Amino acid sequence: MKKVKKALIPAAGLGTRFLPITQSIPKEMLPLVDRPILLYIIEEAIQAGIEDVVIIQGRNKDEIIDFFDCNYELEDRLEKDGKLELLDTVKHIRQSVNLISVRQQEALGLGHAVFMGKSVIGEESFAVLLGDELMLGEANPTKDLVEIYEERTVSATSVMEVPEEDVSKYGIASIKEEIEAGFFAVGDLVEKPKASEVNSRFALPGRYVFNSKVFDYLADTKPGKGGEIQLTDAMIQLAKNEGLLAKQIRCKRFDTGNKLGYLQAVIEVARNHPEIGKDFEAFLKTLN
Ligand code: G1P
Repeated sequence: MKKVKKALIPAAGLGTRFLPITQSIPKEMLPLVDRPILLYIIEEAIQAGIEDVVIIQGRNKDEIIDFFDCNYELEDRLEKDGKLELLDTVKHIRQSVNLISVRQQEALGLGHAVFMGKSVIGEESFAVLLGDELMLGEANPTKDLVEIYEERTVSATSVMEVPEEDVSKYGIASIKEEIEAGFFAVGDLVEKPKASEVNSRFALPGRYVFNSKVFDYLADTKPGKGGEIQLTDAMIQLAKNEGLLAKQIRCKRFDTGNKLGYLQAVIEVARNHPEIGKDFEAFLKTLN
């Protein structure tokens, strides 16, 4: 059985949908109450059995790496002050994952960002989790994909059904065969088509598990939609030549790269927060 032990998180985008805050704070580091978005994404990967996380980062994204580094001064202070629970929290974060950072010097597209991971990932299979797509709830989509891959050795992507007016915002997968409820073989894919150009409403919400063949297809992928090297275009070749499976997500999903999606995620996390959840819920009830 081929185990999936590595994950790649592209976090190189400029965050233009979230300016001006993203001038100095990476969008992946925006807080959901007291923890950055990226931590949730890394935890999803760890729960799926991932041991090494490769972050593809652009310039001005060093906060990401600093967050997972050891802050001796802080840890020493927490220890001396007897704040051992907090100390455990910060230590646990940095010890829970082996982080590898790769710089993407030019923002040439998601496909290019994933291709940058080739030198670290080599011949292994790996998961990809997009840094601004947040999945909350019991079901873990990356775990679903890892299980599919480990059982069948075929690359897999998450899919979610979107309303017709949203089709043009996503990569869209057409279904070749329904294997069982919510589990499909993918026929073709298109990056951000017009709704009239496709007969599917299954969008890609940014969770994938690939075998290393995807790097060969990415190497041959020419700039596509928006002049960018698109991951979806390489996946077309993968689906055609090796097969590609799709699993429908079974959790709540938030696009934290846009303002409304981010705020919805903040509210969801705040309502379930062990420390402030109850009070926050009571506050929400006072709003009209
Ligand atoms: C990227 C992918 C697209 C996918 C989307 C999910 O697009 O290219 O296929 O559906 O992420 O968020 P982006 O939103 O980065 O333009």
